[in-house]
Amino acid sequence: MVEVHYYFKLDPNIRNATEVLFGRMEIEGLAKRKVESIRHFYDVMRQPPISYFDNETVRIQDFLLNLRTVYGEIQGYYFLDETLDLTKFIERLGYTREIYVCLEFKDDIDKLKKAVFPFGAEGKNLQVWTSSHDGNHYCLLRIITNMFFLEQINNVILCSAGKPRERQIARMDGNINRLTHHVMENIRSFIPKFPKDSNWKEFEDFVDEPNEITLYLTQFYGPPYKAKFHPRMIRALLNSADVGEGEVTGDFMLGSGTLAIESVLLNVRTKCSDINPLAKIVARAKIDALNFEPKEVLEEIDNMMAALPKTVESSNRDAASFASHFFRGKEDVKDKALFLNRYIKENVNEKYRNFFLCALAKVSSIAYKMRNEPDVFRLIETELWNMWKVIYCFNEIKQFLHVPVNVAEIETDDIRSLSSVGKDSIDLIITSPPYSTAIDYVKMDLAQLLLLGLIKNPKDLDEKMMGTHRKTSDIDELSRHISDSKPFFSDERNRFHKLPLEAQKYILDLKEDGNLKNALRCYKFLYDMWDALKQMHHVLKANGRCILIIGNNVFTVKGEDREFRNGDLLEEIALNKEIGFSRWREKIVREYSKSSYGTILKEDIIFLQKSLQV
Ligand SMILES: C[S@@+](CC[C@H](N)C(=O)[O-])C[C@H]1O[C@@H](n2cnc3c(N)ncnc32)[C@H](O)[C@@H]1O
Repeated sequence: MVEVHYYFKLDPNIRNATEVLFGRMEIEGLAKRKVESIRHFYDVMRQPPISYFDNETVRIQDFLLNLRTVYGEIQGYYFLDETLDLTKFIERLGYTREIYVCLEFKDDIDKLKKAVFPFGAEGKNLQVWTSSHDGNHYCLLRIITNMFFLEQINNVILCSAGKPRERQIARMDGNINRLTHHVMENIRSFIPKFPKDSNWKEFEDFVDEPNEITLYLTQFYGPPYKAKFHPRMIRALLNSADVGEGEVTGDFMLGSGTLAIESVLLNVRTKCSDINPLAKIVARAKIDALNFEPKEVLEEIDNMMAALPKTVESSNRDAASFASHFFRGKEDVKDKALFLNRYIKENVNEKYRNFFLCALAKVSSIAYKMRNEPDVFRLIETELWNMWKVIYCFNEIKQFLHVPVNVAEIETDDIRSLSSVGKDSIDLIITSPPYSTAIDYVKMDLAQLLLLGLIKNPKDLDEKMMGTHRKTSDIDELSRHISDSKPFFSDERNRFHKLPLEAQKYILDLKEDGNLKNALRCYKFLYDMWDALKQMHHVLKANGRCILIIGNNVFTVKGEDREFRNGDLLEEIALNKEIGFSRWREKIVREYSKSSYGTILKEDIIFLQKSLQV
């Protein structure tokens, strides 16, 4: 029996106790066992067998204790096991930056390396030391997780500016080499130069900067999007449920596509949808690009840029159309974006079409908000080039990093009546309902929805949005439901009295207070979520799991600020026997230090499971 000591060193960018908890949950999910906390790596290096690696050839304290890896209360996790293969941990963990594995060995060291991490590239993401003690041989491996390298692509690009294009490419190559060297050998040379002044910084300082990288790899593609998931958190939740290669994840309010991208990057198949047709284009672009061959895409970009005219004829300016009204004073932006939309659909290779449309969506959003009338053709050239650089770096890094990418099916669909996904077909859903009190999703995407020809009138999409209380045909009926006396005749559409008592009271108080708008808003949100929960339950496999992430709202009711506890209310509704979920684990509350979404100050993470008996 071989005893293998595993040490997981958390990422120094971790900011709070919830992230430390996610770091633990994901290791425990993948290892299917409990782990011990490491409060300080100094405690670890005093313990055998790792203490045998403080000698003339290796000073393990330089690696274990260096500045960049210090967090705070908990620096990492430990467990002792007999299994050797670490691949899953290295490829999947989000909050762990380095893994150390220490064991006694008798066999050939190369065989051992292969058994622990068959895809390890020594000197790039893997270091191996051996040592002897009392006539026994010990081996210590240090491995850097994939997540670290993938997140650093941002910094590689940031530090590789220049002209012409070839120089940028050479700098990216150089910085990828510096990155691997820095993280393997250069660990004693951490000298933050002028931390606040980026002009004076070296590439290595960017790597070491304790800044959280929120959007990595292709996650930054597409127009700005508010209230998206934190990719590392999603990764950790997927790991904590240990979804594997043969399983399927889903998010039917996909938004910017975070769940889909994290799933495929963990080599898990995914089926997702959103009511907003732009979501499909953006998510497809982010996923498709992970499999692009850089040279081919660049040719396609150059071909398009060479084919664009200097000016375009003005399109039909039908004064009555919504778009003409919306783009008044921005006619050149509109004409060029419409031209590009047509060009891409007619001429760009289908394989790359969503990638180009995604760039157009971002450019449309930026150009519409700019004060002047920018040249949309120049903007898209820059945008496509920036997007291309990610593809290039990803492909370079893949030469030593094993990143299997699974497939995604993405559709446009309404979660309240899902038709694009079959019954009993999903293993894990992670989703977040719209923050409709703080964000107007249609307004946020309006320019790009119109310019890509995805909608004609914003009202059509707005009325289908979850929780929309603006649908005129609904208002009277829903207002009638909000009453403390149950209807005399049974009415299928009236759900008010099925809601948790706390919700009924709150909504009634709002109505009595004269705040019908917010009363309707809260009621319609829970009303729609009732259907959404039913649909999610329907498409989950037996024992399938569903994680909901939702912030609470605060409204003024009868002169007081009162919390509308969306999370607890949704959990209670999900557990209603008409819907049929049970609780998989206790909810987690994630507090924000400051809110970026209006009144939402914390998020609840609710863990549900499809009960077998239903
Ligand atoms: C909070 S956002 C999701 C953000 C996402 N988790 C991310 O990481 O970007 C909620 C999403 O729900 C979508 N949505 C609203 N009503 C919907 C409906 N009836 N069916 C499906 N999706 C809907 C919105 O378009 C929006 O993209």
